[in-house]
Amino acid sequence: MVDTVTMKWKSWTLHLIDQRKLPLEEIYVPCESYKEVAQAIKEMIVRGAPAIGATAAFGYVLGAKEMVGSASSWDDFADKMERVREILANTRPTAVNLFWALERMENTMKNFGSLNGVVERLEKEAIEIAQEDIEINKAIGKNGAKLIKDGTTILTHCNTGSLATVDYGTALGVIRTAHEQGKRIRVFADETRPYLQGARLTAWELMKYGIDSYLISDNMAGWMMKRGEIDAVIVGADRVVANGDVANKIGTYSLAVLANRHNIPFYVALPTSTIDISLKSGDEIPIEERNPDEVTHCGGRRIAPEGIKVKNPAFDVTEHELVSAIITEKGVIYPPYEENIRKVLKK
Ligand code: MRU
Repeated sequence: MVDTVTMKWKSWTLHLIDQRKLPLEEIYVPCESYKEVAQAIKEMIVRGAPAIGATAAFGYVLGAKEMVGSASSWDDFADKMERVREILANTRPTAVNLFWALERMENTMKNFGSLNGVVERLEKEAIEIAQEDIEINKAIGKNGAKLIKDGTTILTHCNTGSLATVDYGTALGVIRTAHEQGKRIRVFADETRPYLQGARLTAWELMKYGIDSYLISDNMAGWMMKRGEIDAVIVGADRVVANGDVANKIGTYSLAVLANRHNIPFYVALPTSTIDISLKSGDEIPIEERNPDEVTHCGGRRIAPEGIKVKNPAFDVTEHELVSAIITEKGVIYPPYEENIRKVLKK
């Protein structure tokens, strides 16, 4: 059973809360086919690395349900599923959880090896991915909360809460756990230009959890640090590579540099499914470039002159030297990352 705010899997339909409409409207978009799921990821109805992974897994299930009837043999089905996998994979390039979940689904399909019952087996796997994600986030929360003292003020970026995952959250999960443990914490949430995940989604979640919080625009973070108002920075990640470099929402790198300048710990919280040791350094991570309209427009209204040239990278890479610790469900990883990431992955 999967029934969270982010997603609901009911009667072979994936219902996704439309994150483009939050916080003003709470509407669910039903996806009944794998192509609708791919479209939902592409259009950011659902977003956030772990949420994208679980969504793609259900997309794979819907693809299998569509293909199994017309497949003339197991090999024909496997060929058709390769196309399904490609369409789901070609939605967003940076968050590795998408490819991780699709690989897990594909391996499940290949190991099953029979048309009879394969769709039900894949459904079981997708549900497990989603349920595990919630447990993993709670474990990240527990591990991370040990680093947060009573009275800490935390700066966070983008949205890493329930909405970015199946439920509970990664970096916001750490904040939630500390709050649930009764620690008096305060949060500064960056609005996260240009897509405003912080203003629209994180602020909405923080209000729901009753956590003392302030919304700031991205360019205020440095001054808050300079004034001694921030004790720690905690962010999520879309991909962490073998040397510990971190790809996360655009603006994360600037925060890491600022935190370093002001001697503030900079923590990154993520499930181990976000770690990609097939890449050696952050230079190899594909960075998504998004529609210029996200920069020239705000709330559907143009704010910049027609014809202005725009850059809109959706993510940046923070070098591992700027990361104080990586918080995972299997424990907290400290430098040297190259060695310690591999140790944790073996657990
Ligand atoms: O473009 P988005 O909204 O999908 O980007 C999300 C982020 O960058 C998050 O910080 C990241 O996925 C970690 S979420 C647990």
